[in-house]
Order: sequence, then C-alpha cells, then structure tokens
Amino acid sequence: MEKTLEISKRRRLLLVPCPYQGHINPMLHLATYLYQNGFTITIAQTFFNSIDPNHHPYFTFVRLNDRLSNDLIVSLDVASVLLAINDNCKTSLEEVMANIVEDVVCVIHDEAMYFCEAVASGFGVRSLVVRTTSIAACISRRVVLQLHAEGCLPIIQGSMEDEVPNLHPLRFKDLPFSVHSDISKMEKIILKMYSITTSSAVIWNTIPWLEPSEFTQIKTKICNQVPIFPIGPVHKISPTSSSSSLLSEDSTCLSWLHKQPPNSVIYVSLGSIALLTNQELQEMAWGLANSNQPFLWVVRPGSIRGSDGTGFVLKEFQKKVGDGGCIVGWAPQREVLAHRAIGGFWSHCGWNSTLESLSEGVPMLCRPYSGDQRGNSRYISCVWRVGLTLEGHELNRNEVEKSVKKLMVEEEGRKMRERAMGFKRRIEDSLREGGSCSRNLKELVDFIISF
Ligand code: UDX
Repeated sequence: MEKTLEISKRRRLLLVPCPYQGHINPMLHLATYLYQNGFTITIAQTFFNSIDPNHHPYFTFVRLNDRLSNDLIVSLDVASVLLAINDNCKTSLEEVMANIVEDVVCVIHDEAMYFCEAVASGFGVRSLVVRTTSIAACISRRVVLQLHAEGCLPIIQGSMEDEVPNLHPLRFKDLPFSVHSDISKMEKIILKMYSITTSSAVIWNTIPWLEPSEFTQIKTKICNQVPIFPIGPVHKISPTSSSSSLLSEDSTCLSWLHKQPPNSVIYVSLGSIALLTNQELQEMAWGLANSNQPFLWVVRPGSIRGSDGTGFVLKEFQKKVGDGGCIVGWAPQREVLAHRAIGGFWSHCGWNSTLESLSEGVPMLCRPYSGDQRGNSRYISCVWRVGLTLEGHELNRNEVEKSVKKLMVEEEGRKMRERAMGFKRRIEDSLREGGSCSRNLKELVDFIISF
C-alpha cells in the first residue's frame, strides 16, 4: 500500500467497527482510504468476530473487552449481542482513549456502536458516525418507530401489501424490521442509533443519485444539523484494501469461473447472517439444478438451521450436478461479481451486496430475509429495475427454476442486465476525479483535517 504522506504529518483516527461482516467491510475500506490520505489508523475491535490484524499491517489494533458469554454468542441473537457490546465496552474504550487522547483527531464509529459518542465527548474529542445501510432504510426505520409511538402497530395482516403513506414504493411488508406491538430489542438499538446528537458529521455508504429524494429529505429535514458525506460505494474507494473476511475465502471458485462462458453463471450468496432451513436449502438446490444454468453457490458454514448443511449439499448434490455448479463456504465476493462469467446474483439484498452488484452491472434475483433487506429488494426490483424478487413465504423449486431462467436467459433479464450496466458506468463516473464520490471523499478528508 502506498504511503501518501510522511509519518510526521500523519494524525491519528480511532475507528470502531461493529463486529458483523456487513459492518466491518465498509469500515475497513474507509480506514484504508483514510490511511492512504495521510492519517494514522487505530482500530478498536471487540474480541467477538475480530479480524486478523496480520491482514492489515498498516493499522494499529486494540481490543475492547466485550465480556460476551459463550451462550450469548451461540444464540445468534444479533440484537442482544449489540446491546451487550454497547453496555460492556465503554470502560475499555475509555482506557484506549486515555492512552491516545493527545494524538487522536477524532473517533469514527459505526452507528450500531453508539456508546462511542459519549466516550469521545467525555474526552473532548469529536466523533463521526458511519451509517452502513441505505438512506431509505434509515427513513423507513424512523417510520416504524413513529407508527409504534402512534399506537398503529401491529399492522393488521390484510394491510401488509398496502404502500406506507409518504414512503413510496415501500409497502408495510417491506418495512425494515418485524412490526410487533412491543418495542423489540432491535428497535431499542435503532432508537439509540438515531439519538446520537453530538456527532460532528455523518459518513454514509450510499450514492446521492441512487436515492435522490431520500437524500434530500434526510439532508433538509432529518439530519440538517451536521454535514453528511455520502461516500459510497465504499468498497470501490480503496481498491488495494486487504480482505476483512471473518471466514476464509475459497478462491478455488475463481478457477472454476474462468472456465465458464461470459454472463452464464448465477452467483448465489445470502450474506453473513441469514439462516436457512434444510427444506429451503433443498428447494434452492433443485431449483438451481433444474434451471440448467451454471451456478456458484456460497453455503456459509452454520447457515443451515439445525445442521451444517454441508452433508447434504457437498456429498449428494455436488455429485449430481458435477461441474455444472460450484459450492463454497465463503467466496471472494467482490472478485466474483467482477468476473465476466457472472450474469446474475441471487442475493439476500444486504446493502453491501446490493452496492457491490450494482457496481459490477450484475442484475439480481432478490430473496430478502430480514431488516433492511426487504426494502433494498423493493428498490432493486421497482425503482432501479435491475432485479426481480422471489416472492412467497416458502421457497419452491419450480419458482426458483423459473426465476433463475428469467434472470439469466430471458428478455426481461437481458433488459435488467442492460440497466445494471448503466449503473456500473454511472458509478465509475462518480469514482473518477471530479465525480460525486471522489469529491465527497476529498471534502471528508478536508473536514477532518480542519479539526
Ligand atoms: C447485514 C445486512 O443485511 C446489511 O443490509 C447491513 O447493511 C449490514 O448487515 P449481511 O447480511 O452480511 O449484512 O450482508 P451484506 O451487507 O451484503 O454484507 C456481506 C458482505 O460479505 C459483503 O461485503 C460481501 O462482499 C461479503 N461476502 C459475502 C463475501 O466476501 N463472501 C461471501 O461469500 C459472502
């Protein structure tokens, strides 16, 4: 990695990622960019889901004692884990700050690590918050909180298909978390995330022209006290950044991809958190096989409820499909999506995956699972029209087969691919010198230097 400034001119930034893959990745890309622009980087990370410092020799890593019990970790209860981290890590962060306070310019933390704000301000140090979902997701989370406050929850079942007033094109069923009558743990976290008041700025992994009215709304009405830096797609701003994967990437799939014709392969990956039942796995498998399209499928270890899934998938299914499909536990996703053989992406529509797919001009087959993914899926299919959604509560192999064919070989899919390529070109323009992303990044660096 190139050093752009002399060490003596460097100033230290303390970055605090949230320890989930979809949050670690954007923070590490940002860290790499800031390093390349002259800052010294310290990363404060939890013991839980910590990344290997050896992959990032230019950064200093310090630990936050999260005191998570093993029972909590194996429960896979993301909301409880986040609440515990925010409760438990304050003292550790204060100790870290006490050691570097003379040197540190500001703290940059994930929105889900909201405890950092009070610690930074206690030391008289500025803080900046990083938001890793779309702006639309942020607005719709606020709507859910408001509906709750007005006593409009739970929504009656028959209204789930209706559009939410003032939230076109989102329907009630696209809202970003379960619409229960009690404020759930996740809602408590969201409330805390949006109660951050002393931050000096918001860094957002989005592109203003991708969600223009939402950007205007957030800038003028919701978040009009501090500057917003929309610097997405953040994975494109530091092309030299090392992998920050928590699982080891199986690069053998790249040699398999090299042998496939252009635009022929459907890449299937449901991100780092979604869980499937064994039945869903089987419907996916046979739907993919019956579509006769080559596929590259990520079956993440531990992602099948009640089993590791690999018994069925690797031994029986792989034998049946032979070289027509490649199954791995974790893929180098950015490289995969950029490969000429990839013609479509069956995705859970996590925000990183969405931006990574748009950046490479790959149309999507959407099957969202939770949180912001439903809203992302709606934008992909109805606003940007670069994908289709696999609807229905239960996955069905015939529907899977039909949808894969529609995306990969039919006219509708071809048009989506063309539109997706338009997004790729527009994103490339944003990243060029003078483009919106590159300008916003420069403004962010100047802003931090001005402290
Ligand atoms: C979750 C939410 O779904 C997402 O919307 C939110 O913004 C962050 O938390 P996750 O479910 O993990 O994230 O999905 P996503 O946002 O797509 O992030 C997954 C990341 O893992 C992507 O950067 C992707 O490139 C990477 N990945 C995934 C791999 O590197 N290899 C894989 O095999 C699968």
